[in-house]
Amino acid sequence: MQIEDIILTYEKDLKLVEEFLDKEQNSYVKLIPQISSHIIASGGKRLRPLLLLISSDLFKYCEERRHVLAAVIEFIHTASLLHDDVIDHANIRRGRAAANKLWGNTASILVGDYLYATAFRLLTEDGDPVVQRIISSATTTMVEGETIQFIKSGDAEITEQEYLSIIEKKTAILMSASCALGAALAGQPQESIRTLSSIGLKIGVSFQVTDDTLDYVGVKEEFGKNIGMDLREGKMTLPLIWALKKGSLAEKEAVIKIIKHKSAEDEDILTIIDFIKNYGGIEYALGKAAQYIGEAKALIKSFPDSSARKYLLSIADYVLNRNN
Ligand code: IPE
Ligand code: IPE
Ligand code: MG
Ligand code: MG
Repeated sequence: MQIEDIILTYEKDLKLVEEFLDKEQNSYVKLIPQISSHIIASGGKRLRPLLLLISSDLFKYCEERRHVLAAVIEFIHTASLLHDDVIDHANIRRGRAAANKLWGNTASILVGDYLYATAFRLLTEDGDPVVQRIISSATTTMVEGETIQFIKSGDAEITEQEYLSIIEKKTAILMSASCALGAALAGQPQESIRTLSSIGLKIGVSFQVTDDTLDYVGVKEEFGKNIGMDLREGKMTLPLIWALKKGSLAEKEAVIKIIKHKSAEDEDILTIIDFIKNYGGIEYALGKAAQYIGEAKALIKSFPDSSARKYLLSIADYVLNRNN
């Protein structure tokens, strides 16, 4: 089953989520909805809301609340993207000019703040302490992940383990929370919540690893973001970490020189991409992503067969084969 088919199956639910997003981003300060609608209406994949909806279907839970909470998760994701694009000096997001390029860093940061605050207002209104704990602790972890990544920026000695720990925090934890919420909303025991949380975490780690390969070998028009940005920002991701481990000392020194020199030329970037490809860095990273997806699928299969289980398995496959 293709992701497009799953999106079609969830069309009505996703539409409700969109309505909440549209309604709740509003403010009398018109600059806020102007900027937030720029990013919200620009076609994100809505993968996290989808994970929440499918996970709750796994336990036959389909009450209205789940759409609000799916919107809460998407608000947190959107806020993190607005801030992330300031941090990463991004020019393009979802195939459009990034908000920071159109309105500047200050406006982007403020609207990100507004969306975080909106998410937590909705969470307070929902009033469930179990749900509040899952979402607030995931959000805290995301910021810790981004901060550790910042501290490690340009550090050529970073290990694969440190990298995996960073992406688990900055990215995977929100997908983990999305899946865990499905079980939590349905009033499932801790054990089920933990299993769903683990499924989401593994899917999320794999998602960021594939994202990091696409940053090297993706097609800008499909990916919706510029290629080669991680190198320019001194962000050490798995394909490069692997190649640095395999390359000679001389090659390693040449690469480090380019990374330290923040304004790397296009030619330097191409040199590093060749270096990564020569040492099989892309294949290695994709293999690692596949390993996580394999583990996620094994956990998904611990639940009895159902449509929701099939959808989760298909999403896991999609993450591995995506180009955007
Ligand atoms: C982008 O996430 C940030 C990463 C974790 C790589 P998505 O790729 O899910 O972004 P959208 O919402 O579909 O644009
Ligand atoms: C995104 O990380 C993670 C968060 C938004 C917290 P990246 O910086 O690697 O993702 P892109 O490439 O900008 O989407
Ligand atoms: Mg970024
Ligand atoms: Mg970033």
